[in-house]
Amino acid sequence: MTSGGDAPGMNAAIRSVTRAGINNDLEVYGIRRGYEGMIDGDIFRMNSESVSGIIQKGGTFLLTARSKRFREKEGRDDAYRQLMNFGIDAVVVIGGDGSFTGANIMSMEYDVPFIGLPGTIDNDLYGTDYTIGYDTALNTVVEAVDKIRDTASSHNRIFFVEVMGHEAGFLAINSGIACGAEIIMIPEEKNQIEKARTFLAERARKNKSSIILVAENLPEGNAMQIAETLKPEFPQFDMRVSILGHIQRGGSPSAKDRIIASRMGAAAIEALLDNQKSVMIGVVNDIIVQVPLNKTIKLHKGIDQALISLAEGISTFGPPEENKKYVYS
Ligand code: F6P
Repeated sequence: MTSGGDAPGMNAAIRSVTRAGINNDLEVYGIRRGYEGMIDGDIFRMNSESVSGIIQKGGTFLLTARSKRFREKEGRDDAYRQLMNFGIDAVVVIGGDGSFTGANIMSMEYDVPFIGLPGTIDNDLYGTDYTIGYDTALNTVVEAVDKIRDTASSHNRIFFVEVMGHEAGFLAINSGIACGAEIIMIPEEKNQIEKARTFLAERARKNKSSIILVAENLPEGNAMQIAETLKPEFPQFDMRVSILGHIQRGGSPSAKDRIIASRMGAAAIEALLDNQKSVMIGVVNDIIVQVPLNKTIKLHKGIDQALISLAEGISTFGPPEENKKYVYS
């Protein structure tokens, strides 16, 4: 099943789980609409052909949902009854931390092994360098911002571009570096609006166009609010806001996402055959690893400080004086 926000590469993961399972003599079922479908018994038997022709498609052919009912014990009781009806004795769930929290609770309440595959464009899960969908989303953002750059420089405008990431700045910092954004505002860092203000004051002297990349969910507000705050302070600039939104979640998965999803899917079956339960399959230094689900939920994956230093170290104005000592790699 897939659960939570869809991510490009989820189909490749479903295909891999299905084929590796069948090729190891397991019966494989698909659950539609995540935990919602589990509760409703929206479950069907799959064969190898069920997953033909989907590896290149974005979204998830099993559909997905954010289930409120599964948060209640009553919903989970219904879900367990459905699993028993269909003779299902293990679940592979592809999703993010919300989906894993549900899996972890249910595996404690009932003796059902859950294997998690990290699937989210946010790349914000502890225990894995990459999540399925992140690479495609990153490339989508880069393509979009490159286009915005063309119009920004033609009109000599300042663009605030808002990118997704939930409460993490992975998409923002890496796309910002890849697009040469002049300023990258991420939730992991303090005083982000002050950083933009200092930059704009400097920029005012040259009156040049710029891209300010804004991660969603900043404490200072969203891109629109930040632009509204700064506009009156810098009347010499023509400012625009562009919110990339759900375009970041769609599209055909990159080769990297398809390969990671395929590796992780097969590793989920391997874990089940080894009688593992409540683990997430991750990839660390390009090696497949298993991480206890409760660790992926409780522990926080931080942004590599060197990336932040790098972004500052190669920006137009360089890093602030106190950060000059940083190594950028
Ligand atoms: O977790 C994926 C994500 O796209 C986040 O980046 C974003 O904050 C959220 O989902 C948006 O969720 P929804 O599609 O429910 O609005």
